Amino acid sequence: MSEVSLLKQLARSLMTGQLIAASDPYRLHWHLAPTVGLLNDPNGFIQAHDRYHLFYQWNPLACRHGAKWWGHWSSVDLVHWRHEPVALLPTEEYEISGCYSGSAVLNNDKITLLYTGNVKYADGSRTANQCLAEELPDGTYQKLGPVIPLPEGYTGHVRDPKVWQHDGLWYMVLAAQTPDIKGKVLFYRSSDLQQWQLISEIAGTHLNGLKEFGYMWECPDLFHLHGHDVLLCCPQGLAAEQYSYLNLYQCGYFVGELDYQQGTFPHGEFHELDLGFEFYAPQTTETSDGRRLMFGWLGMPDDNELAQPTVKHGWVDCMTCPRELFFRDGQLYQQPAEELQQLRQGSGATWQGNASEAPLFDGVSAELLLNVDGPFSLSLRDNASLNWDGECLTLTRLNWRTNETESRYWFGKLQSLQVLLDSSSLELFINNGEACMTARYFPDPTKKSLRFEGTGALSIHHWLLSACVIE
Ligand code: FRU
Repeated sequence: MSEVSLLKQLARSLMTGQLIAASDPYRLHWHLAPTVGLLNDPNGFIQAHDRYHLFYQWNPLACRHGAKWWGHWSSVDLVHWRHEPVALLPTEEYEISGCYSGSAVLNNDKITLLYTGNVKYADGSRTANQCLAEELPDGTYQKLGPVIPLPEGYTGHVRDPKVWQHDGLWYMVLAAQTPDIKGKVLFYRSSDLQQWQLISEIAGTHLNGLKEFGYMWECPDLFHLHGHDVLLCCPQGLAAEQYSYLNLYQCGYFVGELDYQQGTFPHGEFHELDLGFEFYAPQTTETSDGRRLMFGWLGMPDDNELAQPTVKHGWVDCMTCPRELFFRDGQLYQQPAEELQQLRQGSGATWQGNASEAPLFDGVSAELLLNVDGPFSLSLRDNASLNWDGECLTLTRLNWRTNETESRYWFGKLQSLQVLLDSSSLELFINNGEACMTARYFPDPTKKSLRFEGTGALSIHHWLLSACVIE
């Protein structure tokens, strides 16, 4: 479809849908969500021209997956965002089924996007082109066309270029699938972002000591952090185990050592990045002050996704809060970006004592910091709960589609817990980010309380969080 036709449809979608979406009681107060339609992966996350830029997979025309666009927000402080012109619309033959995920780099002082042009055929097959687009002075993007056609020896599932610069050259990791349906990560090099040389399969099923490890690894991201190289990726096709790999698709990381010359990445075990229900396709960037920040999609493309009650209000899915990554004790830690503290209203309320005696706290848009000594449970607005029994922290929620409860688990020694709550999302940071659990939930909007129970001693710090996301 032509750009003009798509933009006319966008105008109608926004004119009819925006107020309806904004009036949804489940509309998020301080998380980024689509004005209308469906949002999925964070794309092109970069700090450039003194602002953070976050692009996103977007179907503005319906609450379903399809031919994706790239929406674009920017912010100085990661909290107050503004809408930027829509960056990419699927108008060209080489991207006709969607401008799929990708990344941004700064080249010649211009934000430059590398993304996947996805092309689906009537017989169900597909191909993919890795494409380039460049910022124009008015904040729109000019497409420069494909720079990597489908590499030989792979199926049409090749996507999600993540590009970075190292020693004056550009490098890319790219998700790919072999004809025998094994997930791989390809490693490319370029001197100009135009001509790309495939160096190696750097990771994937049957590589680096892995056996069978999934049929596709979406959204790879490879970066250096505190002396180590870390590969984030989203393997599809891992079998669920008793307490791990419980979501439809997995999202996690390997720690290893990247050899830029050989294109090798010997690495250790796979660790899940998040033990909750909805967390997928994260992307990181390095800030000017040297922090590694990450946004994830606070979603999961499973049967629950399009059954979310927000679909009735014409929007679905959101981003996680921005998180900072740290490397400690051989593993990744995640903490909410410090900028989020701006959302805290005043100095909050503090309380200490046995959990069962704690007062009720408001949990609609709130933050809790807990120091924990002994078992307790916490009801989150009568729709989800946390239970710590001394060995396992269990997050249970009511599934909005099946109306049954379901749980996720973390085993360890719980000392502290940071809980970030929005009207229909929760993010838990265990022991300063040693583990995380992220989920959507849809409590009765009139039920606002957080209720503690149990014999454990707690010290609680509670803040209400301000609602301020998009200007
Ligand atoms: C991950 C993903 C990517 C793809 C995009 C399409 O959620 O499937 O692999 O590029 O979403 O929207």
